[in-house]
Amino acid sequence: MERTFAIIKPDAFAAGNAGKIIARIYEEGFKIVGMKKLFLSRKEAEGFYYVHRERPFFGELTEFMSRGPCIVMVLEAADAINRWRKVMGATNPEEAEAGTLRKEFGTFIGENATHGSDAPETAAFEISYFFSGLELL
Ligand code: RTP
Ligand code: MG
Repeated sequence: MERTFAIIKPDAFAAGNAGKIIARIYEEGFKIVGMKKLFLSRKEAEGFYYVHRERPFFGELTEFMSRGPCIVMVLEAADAINRWRKVMGATNPEEAEAGTLRKEFGTFIGENATHGSDAPETAAFEISYFFSGLELL
């Protein structure tokens, strides 16, 4: 079993799509081992996306992620990291395959409905950024 970190981003939460996305998570066979609703501050969003701090889109990305509430989750399954990224689809919703979450719920590359860790090291950092061990029992 592997764990990954997921976010229902502020665009999807505000549009009322959190329930549908959570239903899809269960349909895909993930176990939700941690889940909470948060309204990130700009500083908290900047810390989370620290790896992108030098990128030209960092300002827009952190402004968007701190614009409204989101839902952060820890998902567990075999090969959870890759599987969750497959369920989400490509970063740009226009390029995402039919049936993926970003195709269905994303608007454009900057507002693409969901987040997923991209490697075991980033999953470990991201999970520990938002959850204590006691919240993942
Ligand atoms: P995420 O981290 O949110 O799951 O997305 P990702 O791995 O598919 O993409 P990543 O390269 O990590 O980029 C993080 C977020 O930054 C925004 N972005 N904008 N304007 C652009 O060229 C651009 N590139 C990336 C996206 O919202 C992406 O989710
Ligand atoms: Mg990423």
